[in-house]
Parts: sequence; structure tokens; C-alpha cells
Amino acid sequence: MIGFSHTSEDLACDGVSLSAIAAAAGTPVYVYSAETLRQRYRDLDAAFGDYPHAIHYAFKANSTRALVAELRALGSAVDAVSMWEVDVARAVGFTPRQIVFDGVGKSDAELESAVALDLKAINVESAGELARVEAIAARTGVVARIAIRVNPDIDAKSHPHISTGLRINKFGIPADDVQALLPTLRDRRAIRLVAVHVHVGSQITSMDPIRGAAVRLAELARSAQRAGVTLEYVDAGGGLGISYDGGAVPSFRDYASAFIDEIRALHLPIVVEPGRSIIGPAGVLVARVLDLKPRTGFSEFAVIDAGMTELMRPALYNAFHLIEPIRARVGGLKQYEVVGPVCESGDVVGRDRMLTPLEVGDLVAIRDAGAYGVVMASNYNRRPMPAEVLVDNGTWRVIRRRQTLNDLLALET
Ligand code: LLP
Repeated sequence: MIGFSHTSEDLACDGVSLSAIAAAAGTPVYVYSAETLRQRYRDLDAAFGDYPHAIHYAFKANSTRALVAELRALGSAVDAVSMWEVDVARAVGFTPRQIVFDGVGKSDAELESAVALDLKAINVESAGELARVEAIAARTGVVARIAIRVNPDIDAKSHPHISTGLRINKFGIPADDVQALLPTLRDRRAIRLVAVHVHVGSQITSMDPIRGAAVRLAELARSAQRAGVTLEYVDAGGGLGISYDGGAVPSFRDYASAFIDEIRALHLPIVVEPGRSIIGPAGVLVARVLDLKPRTGFSEFAVIDAGMTELMRPALYNAFHLIEPIRARVGGLKQYEVVGPVCESGDVVGRDRMLTPLEVGDLVAIRDAGAYGVVMASNYNRRPMPAEVLVDNGTWRVIRRRQTLNDLLALET
């Protein structure tokens, strides 16, 4: 059995009982299915068929070593947004030429090392950043490989916090300004424009913004070629959504075809930077019910040992994650407000959920938590970072041990 499915006993990950994992590893704990991760990667890869492409997995979604090592073995490359992510990638064995470096605020120190490493591309987000990269490259006598991130002014129609493609968002260079910049790039000796880049947002669940991004990308690549720049590839960013609630989302095939259709005539390879669509469905957060108490006449609070400190998405974006009891008790569905232990009223993991009856000590799984889960966890309330477990081929192992208070206090005087 691949992924998360109910056995006669309980919810299992690749056939391994989540209750058994929680009993041994403790809660809260992130549990990942290696087989789901591999399958998602392979499906996206296959969706591009024989069209030249490269998948640069977005480390920001989840960069736990064992997971990115698995992706490396499958042939993935990297999208990094900080020098720390670049360093993690290199520690796992990725080469600099497998890494594109994104981010709206790269420090001088980050740019210095990015230029020195000769990454596949530094994706620049402003004229000012371009000038900083150029100055570093000129001073150190190298040619910096850059891509220009355009702000396409497209509405991704996802949550405002994760829509990035509108002019009012802080990302990229407006399309008109890019057009003005392109003709100046051919003769600049310290920089080499290798790609144009667009990313309109995350958790995109309809094809319109994707098609819009593809059209913009093609326009831009054509303008670059007209300006005498020989591009090596186009970078289509990430952003394909997943179904958190069972609703329809575009397939990998629709997504890949939208870009191939626009780019084919330009004969350029396509780079994509997916994060969520690869790792999101491969992970769950397992938590234990600590307390139950009445809320309204018809609903109860279920207080669990995971909250906004372990999974911030519900509190931050009002995001929906399916919550399932790991062993369903017999009895009619009851309404629960599933809340975390943190001292904030906003620490709600699931609102108004209809679940089979819960008892104190029961385990629940919070689904589709592989992306933007553990990476956004915090030590608020001095809560330690949760453990992470990878299930592979019928067995499981801890891939990150639970943080201890000593780990935290070691940093302090
Ligand atoms: N490339 C760039 C330039 C990005 O900014 C992002 C995500 C990605 C690729 C990967 O996007 P994905 O395929 O994962 O959608 N914390 C939020 C999501 C923030 C996404 C930021 N950028 C959440 O939990 O929904």
C-alpha cells in the first residue's frame, strides 16, 4: 500500500501503522511516505515526456536531509532561497550547477558566495540586486550566471500571503522594466543572462494563472532573444497546488503541457521549481489528544499536542488540512474544534470538524503536511521542534530527532 490508507486496525503509512510509529517515536511527529515522494516526483517528470526539462525541487517546502537526498537520487535539482539552503543542498551532494538561487532579499554575503560557487543561476529580483551581482563578479574577475525574475502582474488567485505575481507584491521586476533592461545585458561582461524566470504564487488550483505565466515567460524569452541574448533555458517557477480538501486541482500533465505549448517554438529547456506538489501529500503530522472539553451546545474542543508551533498554516493562512483519527472509534460523528496547546486563540488546527468520537490519548493525523510544515515550525512557548520519521519499504526510521531543551539552551548564555 502506497501513501496513507486505513487498514482494518488504523491509519498506515506505506502499510506501516502510524500508532506503532507514534508509540515508539512520541508525538507530535511528522511521518513521510518515501514511496509517495518518489511517485510524485516521477509523475511530474513523466508529465514533461521527452521535452527537455529539469525539476529544481524548492527546498523551502521541506529540506530535511533524508528527503532531499531521496529526491537527489531520483535526479532532482534544487531551488534554494538562502545560502543556508544552498549549503544544505551541497552537504547532501548536489553540485552548484544543480542549484538556482531565488529570493527577494539576498545579502551581500549570500551574493558573494553564490557568485563564487558559479551556481546554475542567481535569479535576480531587482535592478539594484543585478548591480550588486555585477559589481561582485567584476571585482572577483568572473562572469556571474543570472536569470531575471519578472513580475508578470498575474493574479494567482490563491491566499494573498502566497500570491506573488501581482505588481503590488514585492517579487520580481515589472515586465516593462525587464523589456528596457534586456538590450543592455548583451554587452555586460561580468554577467551572463542564462534564463528568464516567472513564479506567480503558490497553491494555484486553476489553470488560468499557469497559462498566463507560460505566455509571459514565452514573451519574455522572445524579447531576450530579439535583444541578442542567447538563453539556456526558461524557469517557470513553482506553484502547482494540491488538493487539501478533495477538490479538483490541475494535473501534472496539464501543468507541464501549458508550459511546453508556449515554449516549444523557442526550443528552450524548461526548468520548474515545485515544492508543495512534490512533498505536500507525502507527509502527515501525528498528534495526540490531550484534553476534551465542551465548547458550545453541540461542539467540543479537542486539544492536541501539535499546534501553530508545529504546523503554522491553519493559523497563518486559515489553511484547511484534513484531520483523521488514526483509530476510528465506533459511534456517530461529533463536531470538534481541534486546537493546539499554544497560548493563542488563533492556535486552531481544524475548525468545526465532524469526526468519529475522540477520547483523551487518541491519535490524530493531520494530512498533507509534508510541505511548509516542519520548515515553518517554531520554538514559541519553548516548544521543541518535532521529530520526523521516514517510512520506506515496510520499515521506518527517525530522520530528525526531536529537539531537546538542551539543544535550545546551548545557544544561550
Ligand atoms: N519558486 C519560487 C520563486 C517560490 O517563491 C516558491 C514558493 C516556489 C518556487 C515553490 O512553490 P510551490 O511549488 O511549493 O508552490 N508557506 C506557504 C507557501 C509559500 C510559498 C513561497 N514560495 C504555504 O504554507 O502555503
